[in-house]
Amino acid sequence: MSNMKHSEWWKDSVVYQIYPQSFQDSNGDGIGDLQGIISRLPYLEKLGVDVLWLNPIYKSPLVDNGYDIADYYDIDSRYGTLDDFKELLEQVHKHHMRLIMDLVVNHTSDQNYWFQESKKSKNNDYSDFYIWKDPKSDGSAPNNWGSTFTDSAWEYVPERNQYYLHLFAKEQPDLNWENPEVRKSIYKMMRYWFDLGIDGFRMDVISLLSKLQDFPNAPDDLPLHKNYYYGSSNGPREHEFLQEMYQEVFSKYDVMTVGEAANTNSDQAILYTDPQRNELNMLFQFDHMHLDYGKYGKFSDVRFKLSDLRRVMTDWQDKLVDGWNSLYWSNHDQPRPVTRFGNEKKYRVQSAKMLGTLLHMMKGTPYIYQGEELGLTNVNFESLDDYQDIETKKIIAEMREAGERKEYIEKVCYLKSRDNARTPFPWNNQKNNGFTTGIPWLNVPNYNPVTNALDAIEDKDSVLHYYQNLISLRKKYQVVVDGSYSNFNSDDSDVYGYTRANATEQLVVICSFSNEKVNYEIPSDLQGGELILSNYDRVNLHLGNKIVLRPYEAAVYYRRSK
Ligand code: NOJ
Repeated sequence: MSNMKHSEWWKDSVVYQIYPQSFQDSNGDGIGDLQGIISRLPYLEKLGVDVLWLNPIYKSPLVDNGYDIADYYDIDSRYGTLDDFKELLEQVHKHHMRLIMDLVVNHTSDQNYWFQESKKSKNNDYSDFYIWKDPKSDGSAPNNWGSTFTDSAWEYVPERNQYYLHLFAKEQPDLNWENPEVRKSIYKMMRYWFDLGIDGFRMDVISLLSKLQDFPNAPDDLPLHKNYYYGSSNGPREHEFLQEMYQEVFSKYDVMTVGEAANTNSDQAILYTDPQRNELNMLFQFDHMHLDYGKYGKFSDVRFKLSDLRRVMTDWQDKLVDGWNSLYWSNHDQPRPVTRFGNEKKYRVQSAKMLGTLLHMMKGTPYIYQGEELGLTNVNFESLDDYQDIETKKIIAEMREAGERKEYIEKVCYLKSRDNARTPFPWNNQKNNGFTTGIPWLNVPNYNPVTNALDAIEDKDSVLHYYQNLISLRKKYQVVVDGSYSNFNSDDSDVYGYTRANATEQLVVICSFSNEKVNYEIPSDLQGGELILSNYDRVNLHLGNKIVLRPYEAAVYYRRSK
């Protein structure tokens, strides 16, 4: 394919994220697989989503559940074969959806051929594929960077008498993007998947590719496990690399790109997403994920404040005018939104619907993480030993060492562990909720999900049906896609209200985050629209000057401009 004018189909799309390991097992080995996904495509088509994003399915030792790739050109046998993948792609397209894959190119697995060669010597074809540095004169690591999953970001290899950099597990060495051969090899691999027919990439930790080449020590007051951001996020050649990638790869295909952008603010995001700059379509930002952090980062029992949430969402909505937002509440790295931002007990259904409304009516492309459409909650792991995630294990060890109480550790793991959302998808109320006939890879004793897909399909008031409706509004009203955003109640402690407007249409979106009833006055110039969506039955809602919002009530009003 040559350079072509690209349509912006991703702007009116809704993306559904599949965690392949936990979606549907087809062969009884307890691990979700590609044939399992194929068997569930009718469910996804019915939901109405446009694009499926698969977490990594490449050959991998699964030290970090596939974010450690041993072979970029092959499918891990646990998930199936390349032929299964081709069949999946064809079937996804037949079901009128698109498929995007995860692109993990900040690092590979240490089992990757490139690394196996690289670590052998300082003068072979792959020697400079990774970031190698000499020890300091006392033999210690080149600088003080910690990694996300280990204390030091450097690992010593005797064969080379050098350290290599790994911002994540030591089995995930960082690629050396300064080396043109690395970049060429990556672009070639990307073209391979596009030539097979995939429709885009979600790009793992893409903001970390370019490192400060003097590898300076990070200031001592930064938390160890993320201090590497200092020399590796939004580095000096980041945009140059992405523009080169665009020229070498993206410009040749009609595809979508979404970069995961750790440590990137909304001003920096403009640079990545401004269409004139030819880099990426959109980013996953983290500002709203950071609102409830504590001394162990994400693993805290702090509750977010609505005023902060409104401030950061509004900031991103306001800043990305030429660029485009991606909208998400959760993914495979985050807990369930209804536990985190809603009320998972008394108002599970209402708050799940409210959160869906707030997000899906904003400007940008919404992402639904599997199970969010059912309003699933976090999961009670009976014992800390049952967690499998590398991040959770690390933090448990760290908290134990710091002398934290067991109850506290259990609480914050319940609130924040990545394993909450990685539990097998509940399809029905049969054995293992229909996920597998074998033993699930993440086996939570007495796992009893609050609901399952079959029940949700049968219940007309389920979160699932509400999500179907939300998705269909995007197709029905153009203003959901292209309207400009404006927040109209920046100081309310219970209610988040905003408008979307284009030349002919206006939406007024009102979402209560309160567990109580709230009397709320819609500003007079915004009154009078037709109620097109509500997560309660509509009868009790008083229009006029004041409305009584019930707990977690969401309402969307629509009107055509005169
Ligand atoms: C972000 C991914 O979403 C996460 O799951 C992974 O552990 C890290 N990047 C490292 O690849």
